[in-house]
Amino acid sequence: METEVLSVEKDGLEAVCEACKEVFLAGGLAAFPTETVYGLGADGLHGENSAKIYAAKGRPSDNPLILHIGERSQLDALVTEVPESAERLMDAFWPGPLTIIFKKSALVPETTSGGLQTIAVRMPSHPVANAILKTCGIPIAAPSANLSGRPSTTRASHVIEDLTGRVDLIIDGGDVPIGVESTIIDLTQDVPVMLRPGYITLEQLRSVLGEVIEDPAIRRESIIGHMNEVLHPKAPGMKYRHYAPKAPLTIFSGTEEDVIETIRSLADDTTGILTVDEHRAAYPAERTVSVGSLKDPESIAHNLFDALRSFDEMQVTRILSEDLSEADIGDAIMNRLLKAAGGSFVTMKSEKREP
Ligand code: TXA
Ligand code: MG
Repeated sequence: METEVLSVEKDGLEAVCEACKEVFLAGGLAAFPTETVYGLGADGLHGENSAKIYAAKGRPSDNPLILHIGERSQLDALVTEVPESAERLMDAFWPGPLTIIFKKSALVPETTSGGLQTIAVRMPSHPVANAILKTCGIPIAAPSANLSGRPSTTRASHVIEDLTGRVDLIIDGGDVPIGVESTIIDLTQDVPVMLRPGYITLEQLRSVLGEVIEDPAIRRESIIGHMNEVLHPKAPGMKYRHYAPKAPLTIFSGTEEDVIETIRSLADDTTGILTVDEHRAAYPAERTVSVGSLKDPESIAHNLFDALRSFDEMQVTRILSEDLSEADIGDAIMNRLLKAAGGSFVTMKSEKREP
C-alpha cells in the first residue's frame, strides 16, 4: 500500500482534514496526532473498516478500540445510557486525555469493541485531532499508531517508521504534548474503576466522583510480580507485554547512590542506560539517554516513548533503567515502563557502609 504523508504546517489544517475525511469515508486508515499519542484511525461504525486496524498494527482482535469523537452530541447514539457520573467527568475533563467506558449501543460493531458489550469513548483536545474529527463527523476508532507491542508513537517520525506501507495516510502534526496514553475509567461497574493510569490522575478522578477504585492488575506490585497475568486486567490491552523496545529492559530501584552504582557496574559497551537529567553525568556519554528532569515529571512523560525507541537505533543488547518518580503522572510513566520491562524490576536493599 502506498502511504501518503501530509504535514499540518506545510499543507494546512483544512487540506489535512479533507484528506482524512476522504480516507475514512472510503474505509481506509489514517494516522493523526492527539494530545496523548498519535492515533491510527478508521471509520469505527463499520466493522469491515475498523478491522483493518488490527491487521495494520498486528494487534490481537480481542483488544478493543477507542472511539474518538469531535463533539459531545455524537456520544448518545453510541451508548445505551450516559450515567450522571459520566456527565460530571465530561464536564471536568473533555475534551482531553480521559477515555470513558460505557455500555455500547447496537450501532457499534463488535469488531470495534473487541467482542465486548461495552465501548471506550474519548474526545481529544488536540486541535488537529479535534478538527479532523469534526470534519469527518463520524466516530473514528483509533488505537495508538504503533505496531502492536512497540512503544507508542509521539512524533510523526515514529509513525512513519512503524506504519509506512500499512496505512493510506499519515498526518504530521509535530510532537504530541503529553506523551502517554489517556487515562481509562470504566463506568459500567457498580463503582467506577480506573483501568489505565494516564495524564488525568486517580486523585483528579476521585475529586470529581468520590469513590474510584483502581484495577488491581495495573498496580506496580501486580506488574512486577506478574500477578497481572493472574488478575486479568479489565482493559484487555493491559495484559500484553507492551511499549517494548527490542532489547530486554530492567528497572532498578533503591537509593540514588545504589541505583547509579549498580547500573554503572553492570553496564558494558552494548548496554543502553535510561536515566534522568539529574544523574546524566554519572554514566558513560554513549548509549545513555536522559528522559527528562525529576523536577518536571511531565517532561519525562513527554520523552518516554521516544527514549525507548532510541535504544532500538543504538542496537543495544539490553537496557538498564532507573526507577522514575511515581507521583501524579509518574503513575502512568511507571506503568508504561514496567510493561516495557515485562515486570523485570530489581529492588536494592541499601547496606550500611563503613566510612
Ligand atoms: O490516548 C489514547 O487513549 C490513545 C489515543 C490515540 O487516543 N489511544 C490508545 O488506544 O491508547 P489503544 O488501543 O492503544 O489503547 C486502548 C486501551 C487498550 O488497553 C484496550 O484494551 C482498552 O483501551 N479498552 C478499549 N475498549 C475497552 C473496553 N470496552 N473495556 C475495557 N478496556 C477497553
Ligand atoms: Mg496502544
